[in-house]
Amino acid sequence: MAPTPARLVVLVSGAGTNLQALLDACADPAYGAQVVAVGADRDGIEGLARAERAGVPTFVARVKDYTSREHWDRAVADKVDAFDPDLVVSAGFMKLAGAAFLERFGGRYINTHPALLPSFPGMHGARDALEHGVRITGATLFVVDDGVDTGAIVAQVAVPVEDDDTVETLHERIKVAERAMLVDTVGRMAREGWKVDGRRVRLGR
Ligand code: GRF
Repeated sequence: MAPTPARLVVLVSGAGTNLQALLDACADPAYGAQVVAVGADRDGIEGLARAERAGVPTFVARVKDYTSREHWDRAVADKVDAFDPDLVVSAGFMKLAGAAFLERFGGRYINTHPALLPSFPGMHGARDALEHGVRITGATLFVVDDGVDTGAIVAQVAVPVEDDDTVETLHERIKVAERAMLVDTVGRMAREGWKVDGRRVRLGR
């Protein structure tokens, strides 16, 4: 009998191309994972439409509908928890997880960032790398901790910066590599397991 696929909850805030890459990968039973729900912090985004087209349940929690950020954080944690995930993937989710969320999902909440951390953390990884003039940037998948893009690194991929790059062309090139890295690494985490040992993350049991 095939092992039970790992349950993924994916959080999005925008276009959801990383989500789409995961949905496409999960269509193959050999991938070892399934997206059981997609959550967002806003309505009307393509990320939610992608989930709906794939027949995956969705939920939305908008910060402004809660009395405080802590209340919102607990609500998101409850909504995610209801789907009993093995792994929670922030794929372009533009909100920081709070204490309640991390207490529940710490060690199994991962985020993808469009730069080679620890360089260029924050909201504008691609822009900041371009403005700094680096010749190589990339994407990083990491286990979320209570800092801003400071968690233990699971995987990284390098992407060259071209002379005529704009923020948009660079970010698009990063996203091509980022999606491949995300799909490859999440699949390995699902099939092989992982261990976080301080700053080091090891795939495999
Ligand atoms: C990705 O580059 C992610 O790293 C960043 O925002 C982008 C999201 O893209 N935080 P998409 O919504 O998956 O297309």
